[in-house]
Amino acid sequence: MSSYQLSDATRARFDREVAKYPYEQRQSAVMACLSIVQQEEGFVSRASEDVIAAYLGMPPIAVYEVTTFYNMFNQRKLGQFKLNVCTNLPCQLRDGQTALEHLCSKLGVEEGGTTADGLFTVQKSECLGACADSPVMLVNDRQMCSFMTAERLDELVDVLRSNAVKA
Ligand code: FES
Repeated sequence: MSSYQLSDATRARFDREVAKYPYEQRQSAVMACLSIVQQEEGFVSRASEDVIAAYLGMPPIAVYEVTTFYNMFNQRKLGQFKLNVCTNLPCQLRDGQTALEHLCSKLGVEEGGTTADGLFTVQKSECLGACADSPVMLVNDRQMCSFMTAERLDELVDVLRSNAVKA
């Protein structure tokens, strides 16, 4: 069973987020606290969700609902590069699924899988708000990539691989 200890430094970061809201609405800081944990740990474990729930005075299930609703929250350890390809309907109509399948095939993983070298995790995602740029994808929840043809996907993988931090 996993455990999670809230360090003084992390608690101080939580405190800063909570201070942005009236005390009785401190639960509004839940996403910020989850983001802090993910930034520090790489993912949000069930144990850390329980600690956040206790810290914010909210039922654990309410924290799980947030974590499972937003796919920017990782519920397990992922590869160094998280590649989220949009497969919602507008993108489906413009090669979103093709892009996802190309990436999976190039990297030799199933959707949701991580390459054996721990570099890449490929996932499908919900609408990224850039439907006109389809196929679109997000790298590590931050970098949006548009018009991802097979050629551009190949180039992206090469660039990311060359930028990878060696373990
Ligand atoms: Fe893919 Fe909107 S449906 S970005």
